[in-house]
Amino acid sequence: MYMNFWYPVCIAADLTTVAPLRARILGLPFVAFRDAVGQAHVLADTCVHRGGALHKGKLVNGHLACPYHGWQFDGTGRCVHIPSLGADGSIPARAKVDSYPVVERYGIVFAFLGDLPEAERPALFEIAEWGQDQWRASGLVVFELNAYFERSMENGLDPVHNEFVHTLQGNIRFRPDCMRVTNGDWGSEVFVRMDPPKPGTTQLEKLRNDAQPEDFGASSGHYGPNTLVTRINLSKVNTLVQYFFEQPVDADHTRIFFINLRNCMLEDWNDERIQQINLAIANEDIAVISHLNPVRTPEVSTKEILIVGDECVGAYRKHLKAWESRGWRLDMQTLREKAGDVAYAIPSPARRLSKNWVLDPVPLVAGGG
Ligand code: FES
Ligand SMILES: [Fe+2]
Repeated sequence: MYMNFWYPVCIAADLTTVAPLRARILGLPFVAFRDAVGQAHVLADTCVHRGGALHKGKLVNGHLACPYHGWQFDGTGRCVHIPSLGADGSIPARAKVDSYPVVERYGIVFAFLGDLPEAERPALFEIAEWGQDQWRASGLVVFELNAYFERSMENGLDPVHNEFVHTLQGNIRFRPDCMRVTNGDWGSEVFVRMDPPKPGTTQLEKLRNDAQPEDFGASSGHYGPNTLVTRINLSKVNTLVQYFFEQPVDADHTRIFFINLRNCMLEDWNDERIQQINLAIANEDIAVISHLNPVRTPEVSTKEILIVGDECVGAYRKHLKAWESRGWRLDMQTLREKAGDVAYAIPSPARRLSKNWVLDPVPLVAGGG
């Protein structure tokens, strides 16, 4: 798992000014809340007094009050009130928890979990079709998986599994000669031209059948370690596009915030049917990737056999290695060994500006420079 990227925290509509919400991301505890003016904040979920879980606390005048002794923290993570010290009490300088940059977009609260200054951060992924007249988005859904997020990402980047895992997709065949992999700074993408399915009678099938063979295809790409984009070209002009913002909960669990858009079948009565197809497809994927062995991607490449069709999986792994060499990969082994003994936090950008933090910064795999 990697720090210094944007991660989905919760559905924006679930976050209110009434109560905080907990989230577990990268194996660590976080708390989200809205302050008095409705601004969303995401903090490390560990009170620096004596370890209270802040998400169990209350919101008091837009501040997050710890359930244990009532210390209050503002959205920047600074402690602003310690009830037992009285109104004039002096608050220790170390009374602060990490607070992370937050952006609300696409109905999701995202947090940048890392300490990079703004100018160096990868941008939050931009959905180009969002808010465009000719595009319709349907339903934001969260999938829960008993699987490691990298396995889920790699499944999305693998064009070969479709004809074996997805029964709904008719006679789609993977053709290695029609595959193209491209690489960018923050991700890679595989495009595969496919044979259109057999004639059918539904609106979706008819659209596909109108396509010229050369227009029918699909691409999958990743942006950063945890954003996946799938684009299905039903014809030259008709496209379905799906966005998966993955939340690595821990080393065995993942939550996927899923958004899909289309520029065809725009009538609202299609929303539910398309969503049901998406859910059925997702469940077919989940049934396979929640039983992979080992659960997490092997560290050594000889423990698997990558062949044609696995190119984008290979490209994804190369990007992960590059981010590891920048020192952004969490040391999961140390985290597991110290669990229960040490309270860790992902370092927030403020740690580059001030010292004296109570929580230990998360252990990282040594980067190559
Ligand atoms: S542990 Fe949070 S106020 Fe004491
Ligand atoms: Fe799939």
